[in-house]
Amino acid sequence: MTDFLARSFSIGGVLIDPPLALAPMAEVTDTYYRSLIKELGGAGLVVSEFISAEGLTRKNDRSHQMLAFAENERPVSIQIYGGDPDRMDDAAAIVEAQGVDIVDINMGCPVKKIVNTGAGSGMLKDFDRAARTVDKITKRVKIPVTVKVRKGWESDDVLPLLQRFQDIGVSAIAIHGRTRSEAYTGASDWKYIAMVKRELRIPVFGNGDVKTPADAIRMFEETGVDGVMIGRAALHNPFIFRDIHAYAAGRPTVGNEIEHRIDAMQRYLTKIDGAPQIDKWKLHKARTVIGWFSKGIPHGKDIRLGLQDITAVSDVQKLLDRSRETIAA
Ligand SMILES: Cc1cc2nc3c(=O)[nH]c(=O)nc-3n(C[C@H](O)[C@H](O)[C@H](O)COP(=O)(O)O)c2cc1C
Repeated sequence: MTDFLARSFSIGGVLIDPPLALAPMAEVTDTYYRSLIKELGGAGLVVSEFISAEGLTRKNDRSHQMLAFAENERPVSIQIYGGDPDRMDDAAAIVEAQGVDIVDINMGCPVKKIVNTGAGSGMLKDFDRAARTVDKITKRVKIPVTVKVRKGWESDDVLPLLQRFQDIGVSAIAIHGRTRSEAYTGASDWKYIAMVKRELRIPVFGNGDVKTPADAIRMFEETGVDGVMIGRAALHNPFIFRDIHAYAAGRPTVGNEIEHRIDAMQRYLTKIDGAPQIDKWKLHKARTVIGWFSKGIPHGKDIRLGLQDITAVSDVQKLLDRSRETIAA
């Protein structure tokens, strides 16, 4: 088997090694989640949840808090979105000043509220505006600029836009093989991803429907992409990146073992407990993330049932300690 995972590559001078990336996910890939993923191992790049260019340029506190990152995340990419080309480059400059490695532009979000402002995949309706936005950003910042797209708005026609991005100086692209109209229905079109990879000289991340370690290797094989980007699978199994390496090397995977999941949950709780955030936020994060990490494992249902009664992060820690004891008994 070809050792795809040994093929590191550079995004405008930033080394991506190994060639696996955590996809941007709103409300999920904040600094605590990204830092956990890096700690568990196997990912070569982590991308933030999308941050509003409006929020950043209008000095919104929440948007600025979202710029936080930990040193262990490097290389780290911060994603911004917005429909106003004149604000996007200001937002990119704010991201750069934060000291991150890469700034990524969201051209994939399908949500109506976002696309109606011309942002997210709304950018794919007007190639000239999208190209103008990206041109201004690449001229404004020194760090590498990347763009994450879908394969088109209604049909698979994004390639000419990507070629323009390449000429403008974009350092890499990530492509989710669905149109905006498809949202999350159907399957990610890996054939289109393969075609895009063949036609571009800059690095390409393939994205969409990598659910297992075997899928990740198959995406490398079938599309020839430089990197594989994974979203939803990492929601439930934060060990997915490490598991891909184990699978490729013929070693057993660990992500579906309860002991490992509990370990990840406890690490995550320690991170959010120490965060400079209000208790309500901590409780919300604990509930949702432990809810995801407990899916698909033995005793997971008991953990989720226990989550109904928690009133503090320490309650979740006790709940997990009890689960550990039950397993050990
Ligand atoms: C909860 C959630 C939030 C997402 N938020 C973002 C986002 O902020 N920016 C973005 O570019 N894509 C976002 N996406 C899309 C993912 O990055 C990815 O393209 C998509 O989930 C397909 O990959 P997957 O099959 O590996 O999940 C989000 C997806 C999910 C499930």
